[in-house]
Amino acid sequence: MKINVKSSSLEKVKGALLVVATPETKGRLPDSLKKLDKAHQGVIGRMVRAGGFEGSAGQSVMGFPATGPKQILLVGVGKSTDISPRSIRRAAAVGARKALDADITKLSLSVPAEASGDLTPEVVGQSAAEGVCEGGWVFDELQENQGSNIEAATLIAADSAQKKRLEAGCAAGHAIGEGQCFARRLQALPGNICTPSFLGDTAKTLGREHGIKVTVYDEAAIKRMRMGALLSVSSGSVEPPRFIVLEYKGGKGPPIGLVGKGVTFDTGGISLKPPQKMEEMKFDMSGAAAVFGAFEALGRIRPACNVVGIVPSVENMPSGSSVKPGDIVKSHSGKTIEVINTDAEGRLILCDALSFMKKFKPSCVLDAATLTGAVVIALGHDATGLMGNDEQLLAEVQAAGERADERCWPLPMWDEYRKTLESDYADIKNLGDRAASSIAAGWFLREFVDGYSWAHLDIAGTAYGSEKPHLAAGPTGVGVRLFTQFILGRDN
Ligand code: BES
Ligand code: MN
Ligand code: ZN
Repeated sequence: MKINVKSSSLEKVKGALLVVATPETKGRLPDSLKKLDKAHQGVIGRMVRAGGFEGSAGQSVMGFPATGPKQILLVGVGKSTDISPRSIRRAAAVGARKALDADITKLSLSVPAEASGDLTPEVVGQSAAEGVCEGGWVFDELQENQGSNIEAATLIAADSAQKKRLEAGCAAGHAIGEGQCFARRLQALPGNICTPSFLGDTAKTLGREHGIKVTVYDEAAIKRMRMGALLSVSSGSVEPPRFIVLEYKGGKGPPIGLVGKGVTFDTGGISLKPPQKMEEMKFDMSGAAAVFGAFEALGRIRPACNVVGIVPSVENMPSGSSVKPGDIVKSHSGKTIEVINTDAEGRLILCDALSFMKKFKPSCVLDAATLTGAVVIALGHDATGLMGNDEQLLAEVQAAGERADERCWPLPMWDEYRKTLESDYADIKNLGDRAASSIAAGWFLREFVDGYSWAHLDIAGTAYGSEKPHLAAGPTGVGVRLFTQFILGRDN
């Protein structure tokens, strides 16, 4: 998709579709649209009145003016005082989705003049570009009949000074949007295509494309590194594991670390899952997808900082060679783990990644993992569970998530929750009580975090979901925007 900015008065815009992000109308024509309405013989007024359009967030109405663009779409952004990166991004996404529905390949987008306030044109441009990428995402590469794609989106600027600033924001937003699309495609690919070795090859290609150093360790190398916890998970599968390290070098100073759970399919192993919705466990590599997507964005933006990404990747299968409940394995850190439940596999691969991360001496580490079903019960599909060992870092991550519209909410890590992981036979068990199991999982990871600030994102509820006005059903690419926003916020 091409995204550009054009300085023009709204009344002069032509083309197939003009998307107008519109604040709450209360059934009246907003002042900012009066000129546009007049230029096109009152069509906007009719859309507002007859179309029942009120401008609430996500609401939209299509109109067909006799002059100018073939179609005009009004998309609500809510109260003009509430206009935010989130409402602009979502309105742009609704516009792109409606364009796809109507087989329209090119659109223009205007954001409300009311959006000024404390929203800079840079932020507006970024949000709009992220939105058209989000709404324009399609995954039909495995189907015979392929629909249309959005080829170009043009953001309308009031003047050339605003154009420059919108362009700067757009460039970052486009990069982040492409990163998110990259992640969503990997998520959508099924387990028989997206295997650990496929993820390794994908990382290599990404690295070559952007001049990012990528090291992919195969099974023999992983054995030499004594990652017994990771190997215990992959032991039941015919798909060999991969341990993937990406190093983006854009500046001086210690790197920021990103870690993503890369279970390309989670059957549960010997502690087999029930069949209902098991197909969704192809999304158990969503944390890995978020890390790759963030590196895709970094490769395009090239900020002046350093970032290390680690993706431990396995397939969790039951077989004669699988790890069994009661087995004791030795992790990369040297700690022994009693495997009580083979379905608590994410923490077994992440613990080896987290202890390996130490050698990079990171300033901080964020991990993203579809780790527990319990976080979906706690927070549903609209917030990621947030845990960690440094309150200041957690506040920073939460703020990045708010800005990126990938909301996180903290869960407490009091010592009581750690106690449930004590083992009679090994240093630690991989399973605590059923109660508060998301926090027990967080505590398990924390036992392998040594020498750095760390935040854990449990994305089991936010990595994929049902349809929303701005988002197609399926994978969301959650984590890409948060990771990138967090990194850009530290870039100086
Ligand atoms: N991949 C699952 C977590 C999950 C569940 C993600 C639902 C998305 C939707 C994870 O590996 C898992 O199986 N977790 C278990 C842990 C339990 C055995 C302690 C769970 O949540 O039930
Ligand atoms: Mn599992
Ligand atoms: Zn899993």
